[in-house]
Amino acid sequence: MCGIIGYTGTKRDVVKVLINGLKRLEYRGYDSCGSAVLNCEGKIELDRVKGRVDLLVQRVLEKNYKNVSCGIAHTRWATHGIPAEENAHPHTDCRNEIVVVHNGIIENYLELKTELNKHDFKSETDTEVIPHLIEELINQNLRKEVIIKSEFLQPVFFKAFIDVVSKLKGSFALAVMWSKVPGVILAARRFSPLVIGVGEEEFFVSSDVAGFLEYTKKTYFVDDDEIVFLDPKNIAFFDINGKKKNKEISLISWDIKMAEKGGYRHFMIKEIFEQDIGFENTIMRRVLPVDSNLFERETGISDNDLKSFSHIHFVGCGTAYHACLCGKYLFESFGIAADADLASEFPYRQNVLDKNALVCVITQSGETADTLEAVRIAKRNGNKIFAIVNVVGSTVSREANWVLYTHCGPEIAVASTKAFTSQLAALYVLLLHIAYKRDKLLITKAREYAKELIEIPKVIRKIFKSEEYIKKIVDDVSDKNDFLYTARGINYPIALEGALKLKEISYLHAEGYAAGEMKHGPIAIINEGMPVVAISLSTSDLELMRSNIEEVKARGAKVIALCDDVSSKYVRADWKIIVPKVSEWFSPVTSVIPLQIFAYYVAFKKGLDIDKPRNLAKSVTVK
Ligand code: F6R
Repeated sequence: MCGIIGYTGTKRDVVKVLINGLKRLEYRGYDSCGSAVLNCEGKIELDRVKGRVDLLVQRVLEKNYKNVSCGIAHTRWATHGIPAEENAHPHTDCRNEIVVVHNGIIENYLELKTELNKHDFKSETDTEVIPHLIEELINQNLRKEVIIKSEFLQPVFFKAFIDVVSKLKGSFALAVMWSKVPGVILAARRFSPLVIGVGEEEFFVSSDVAGFLEYTKKTYFVDDDEIVFLDPKNIAFFDINGKKKNKEISLISWDIKMAEKGGYRHFMIKEIFEQDIGFENTIMRRVLPVDSNLFERETGISDNDLKSFSHIHFVGCGTAYHACLCGKYLFESFGIAADADLASEFPYRQNVLDKNALVCVITQSGETADTLEAVRIAKRNGNKIFAIVNVVGSTVSREANWVLYTHCGPEIAVASTKAFTSQLAALYVLLLHIAYKRDKLLITKAREYAKELIEIPKVIRKIFKSEEYIKKIVDDVSDKNDFLYTARGINYPIALEGALKLKEISYLHAEGYAAGEMKHGPIAIINEGMPVVAISLSTSDLELMRSNIEEVKARGAKVIALCDDVSSKYVRADWKIIVPKVSEWFSPVTSVIPLQIFAYYVAFKKGLDIDKPRNLAKSVTVK
């Protein structure tokens, strides 16, 4: 939710750095955007637009700003105040001298606003209290100085910023500039992501590393309640009381090419076709019993920890929650008790949460507000947290006891695809370790599964070949407005995921239902010609699925059956997408990919903005 980018340095064109950063962060929010640059004479140039970054780029480039010393910019996903130019960031104080970009929600903004009744507010946002509060405190402090020398200004700005940060309640990542101190950016965070990029006599501040990855891989991850001072030559970190802190720099392994489209029309389709690699990189050298050392070294989890928990409790949101549901089916099929909860519903379960349960959170970004809250609730309860995360250094990865990274590279499209299959890959790795260590799996069987798991990337490549056939199905059904997805057992979460993919990028009505539930209500909505996507692989419940398909066909549905080469002989359907046959517990990987491709081409045919669907943003960092 919302992307922040800031730059101070003399090496580069500040405006270009901001524009490039905004383009890379646009997936975080895209209803309005803006930038503020400060020239060496101390003049702030502010530009804001309702709409996409391209609009802002046109405006800023026409103005051809010269002698710029530093700048901050923002792409917005509206919370307080409609998408409009006046609500776009940066926000300013009364005299347009202090500029602020913010990601998060200031919960006490109304209370703070009442202290500022002499100030001139121009927007409906919660953010705008921040520049006015800084202005207020600077004015109070400067009045105390008889002669205002320029060397006072920097400490006065810093002190005012720290005091304001301590007054804020809620969540924030902030970057702030004051026209009187060119070159200086102050930043802070609480519960919203913020990272610093380090170059030679230049610094970047951003919501995530994608904002500056083309310039540097050297990164500092900002912690909660940490204040950062930046000018072209200096960087310093402080706690909320102004005490200096030492921090360690990290090196990011992602490459900028990973965050580019590389010839594809959309990030989503590129990411769909990267799933073989993402899966392979996630299982590589981690699969017990073939090669287990890396898993233990990376996660640091001991055999005792793998053996001693009472049950495993999966928690996540959206697509990651669907991975959690698959985890529940997988672990239970090996006799390991498991629960799966939506992170937003997890707080309601805390009274019955067994502190001996291993809480396994699954998240691509590692910044989802509800997932993060679940981590904190579980930790307070005494639970240990195992996190499956994609973004290195993200908040969840830093708060969990153990982390298993999915190595699928940056996921830019708002609709999650490769993150999901790499989450499944991570679940298989974890399951093999836990089941083997807990004597739920004999070594011979474990070897068999490991062997098959290692072959899955090849299977994924075969599934990619169904793209052309899926496009033909799309041609036939793209005039339909309602879709039903149905499956049983471990593929039931994939029915939910298939429906989610379709609705989020094509805005069509799609529902996922457990096939056994159809007769308990949903079958009533079937009418002549309604497309029903039925996952009917050769799993233990094929016979039941076959009957469910007959039942919807008898009521006029047009069935798109997702079969494997064996089950396709048993199922009657209008279209059959055929994938290679794999063991039942690997089947979610084979069933989800055609459904992602299907959703992509439906949205493509409708000419929609696939990578940035309306009303959505990539990381949901507010509750
Ligand atoms: C759907 C989608 C979302 C995310 C959800 C969790 O395509 O992308 O449902 O899966 O917002 O995000 P993470 O995994 O970052 O916690």
